[in-house]
Amino acid sequence: MKALVYHGPRQVSVDEVPDARIEKPTDVLVKITSTNICGSDLHMYEGRTDFEQGRIFGHENLGEVIEVGGGVDKIRVGDMVSVPFNVSCGHCNNCEHGLTNYCLTANEPGVAGGAYGFADMGGWAGGQAEYLRIPWGDFQCLRLPEDAKGKQNDYTMLSDILPTGWHAVEMSGLTPGETIVIYGGGPVGLMAALSATVKGAAKVMVVDRHPDRLKLAEQIGAIPIDDSKGSPVDQVMEQTGGRGADRGAECVGYQAHDPQGNEDNALTLNNLVASVKFTGGIGTVGVFIPQDPGAPDELAQQGKARFDFGTFWFKGQQMGCGQAPVKRYNRHLRNLIAENKITPSWIVSHNLTLDQAPDAYQHFDARDEGWTKVVLNPTQPS
Ligand SMILES: NC(=O)c1ccc[n+]([C@@H]2O[C@H](COP(=O)([O-])OP(=O)(O)OC[C@H]3O[C@@H](n4cnc5c(N)ncnc54)[C@H](O)[C@@H]3O)[C@@H](O)[C@H]2O)c1
Ligand SMILES: [Zn+2]
Ligand SMILES: [Zn+2]
Repeated sequence: MKALVYHGPRQVSVDEVPDARIEKPTDVLVKITSTNICGSDLHMYEGRTDFEQGRIFGHENLGEVIEVGGGVDKIRVGDMVSVPFNVSCGHCNNCEHGLTNYCLTANEPGVAGGAYGFADMGGWAGGQAEYLRIPWGDFQCLRLPEDAKGKQNDYTMLSDILPTGWHAVEMSGLTPGETIVIYGGGPVGLMAALSATVKGAAKVMVVDRHPDRLKLAEQIGAIPIDDSKGSPVDQVMEQTGGRGADRGAECVGYQAHDPQGNEDNALTLNNLVASVKFTGGIGTVGVFIPQDPGAPDELAQQGKARFDFGTFWFKGQQMGCGQAPVKRYNRHLRNLIAENKITPSWIVSHNLTLDQAPDAYQHFDARDEGWTKVVLNPTQPS
């Protein structure tokens, strides 16, 4: 089969690799019809993780079931399914408690949490390919309704960024009528803005410096805050009568930088502490990692950050963080799409073939104007 293979920093190619296949009776084999490029892929693409050369990218997967193992009960050949980016078994202590983001079976002993095509998440092959093996298929696959083939650009957001944006808002503790500031207007930040809107936020503010991304935020009624035009903290204070936002979301991660490009892994965290009110809550879904050899300073290389803990403590704020538990939300978010209550495809800028993926990586990595979310379509549904 064809798959997008990583060959080193900013080097990917579409290669012929051995076909994905059923390996265990509980496996499901999916023909991939939609698989998105994510900001998480970019950390790996840039060589800022220990993702191994020769491995396949792709954790935002949707497709058609073409084969099921002998132990699969529910999922049938022909089903259109969304696959959560978290690989999870369903029967470990964490999965039983809904913590599928920290499955105890899907990674090596002593490390919790698995994902497709991801560094340090269990070595599972990714789905930027024609086919993907889904372990624990009955537990993993979310069946999609009849309209799935026509609304793939909406349903494809269920594997990661929509539940992740929702999770950021959930961890922030937002209740209806409150305000929230979201740092990062990439796909995840935009999904957090959509989620906050659906959850009844009175005011949603999105901080970024790319006009195309800020425009998408504006399209759903959020207030764009351009941090290249002045301090984002000051702008949030102005929007909130000097009190700060009730809630905040971090949707950038450890490669956060100022508009001039100077990287500082504590920048968004400290801006959040400063622009969220006393006792406010913060949800951090932007990725941070324990070691970052490619970081510009020694502290960051050890995965550490100059976090304003004194101010955070003084203001009595709270923060949640980590990978999102996609299965906690994806069924209900699917229903919102099915009932036309939300249309997350509004951020999709490109539908491309797998062969166009290397070029798409370059553009999305450069945050080139107009490259807001790339959906790859390696195969067509039958
Ligand atoms: N926790 C999870 O489960 C989970 C899931 C998916 C993605 N992620 C992570 O979420 C983050 C965002 O993903 P994405 O796909 O939106 O990526 P992206 O890189 O496309 O978007 C990030 C955006 O942040 C902006 N930005 C950079 N520095 C900033 C700053 N100081 N202030 C405000 N904005 C700033 C950039 O301009 C960019 O538009 C990544 O770290 C990704 O790995 C986490
Ligand atoms: Zn993703
Ligand atoms: Zn588990």
